[in-house]
Amino acid sequence: MKAAWFEEYGAAAEVLQVGERGTPTAGDGEVLVRLYASSVNPSDVKKRAGLQPALDKGWVIPHSDGAGVIEAVGNGVDSERIAERVWVYQAQYQRRFGTAAEYVALPAERAIHLPDNTDFAIGACMGIPAMTAHRCVYADGPVAGETVLITGAAGRVGDYAVQWAKDGGANVIGTVGNETSAARARDTGCDLVLNYRVDNVAERAMDFTSGQGVSRVIDVEFGLNIATSIRVIRPNGVIVSYASAQAPQPQLPFYPMMFKDLSVRMVLVYAMPEQAKRRAAEDITSHLKQQNLKHRVAERYSLDAIAKAHESIENGGVAGCVVVEIA
Ligand SMILES: NC(=O)c1ccc[n+]([C@@H]2O[C@H](COP(=O)([O-])OP(=O)(O)OC[C@H]3O[C@@H](n4cnc5c(N)ncnc54)[C@H](OP(=O)(O)O)[C@@H]3O)[C@@H](O)[C@H]2O)c1
Repeated sequence: MKAAWFEEYGAAAEVLQVGERGTPTAGDGEVLVRLYASSVNPSDVKKRAGLQPALDKGWVIPHSDGAGVIEAVGNGVDSERIAERVWVYQAQYQRRFGTAAEYVALPAERAIHLPDNTDFAIGACMGIPAMTAHRCVYADGPVAGETVLITGAAGRVGDYAVQWAKDGGANVIGTVGNETSAARARDTGCDLVLNYRVDNVAERAMDFTSGQGVSRVIDVEFGLNIATSIRVIRPNGVIVSYASAQAPQPQLPFYPMMFKDLSVRMVLVYAMPEQAKRRAAEDITSHLKQQNLKHRVAERYSLDAIAKAHESIENGGVAGCVVVEIA
């Protein structure tokens, strides 16, 4: 099969190779998927660069998420699944075979039905962005009637977090860093959009909630935003965070946090409880069927141009998902 892989960590253009590798077979409990799209997320490029653990040694076909058609099934998997369109997640999590290839064999439960109305490129964007967002919104119970502050509301994860929170009946305050992101955040349903570079987010959020504050914060930059999060959170509220890239070792003001009896939840999409993964997958597929999620495939690359796709994610500022199309 045609595939992309790296054998050592380093810059995308230096370590990513494209060529022929043996086609995997579906083992017990696995499906073999012919992939047509693979998406690039920050964790994929961090693994390739050696900033996050990938595998100790040997080659790795990168990317967790993809979409395609089941071509074969292993022992214990219903043969009715052959020819099913699927989106897949966690392909390259503690495994060598990711989705930047014509084929991947992976556990059957990681291949989720992709409705006919949804193209493969969108299917390839469900795993990390939409599942992380789902976990952030629902890990601490229903959000109906609650007010939620979602920072980075137009980011790949933030965009779906806004949509899950609105779908769940929350009022949503979204923060963004520029006008393009603001327009997107309004379009996905934010009730109030603030610019984190310009606005006094804490003051505006308190005004918006008539001084009550928000019951949840869903945050993309935990360390930078912690002071604001503590100011706006209500007693017993939850700060949910999935990244702290710019302040990886934040200092926490213990007593202001304790006096609010608040909780902090860290989310790692790969480590979500299996039950939460199943629930997210079911919700995603049912929302795809109903066509009531908005998606953004911002850039598309061929497999031969995979290094460019990685560089685009690394450079940042992409308004949406980056997909590698596999002919
Ligand atoms: N823990 C997990 O399971 C998990 C899963 C997925 C991603 N992540 C991590 O989450 C981070 C974001 O991933 P992504 O794919 O969503 O990236 P993305 O599409 O680039 O989104 C990042 C967003 O963060 C916003 N932002 C930057 N600084 C901010 C600040 N100080 N306050 C509020 N918003 C700020 C940006 O807003 P503007 O562009 O509007 O300025 C941008 O929209 C990455 O570090 C990634 O590795 C973690």
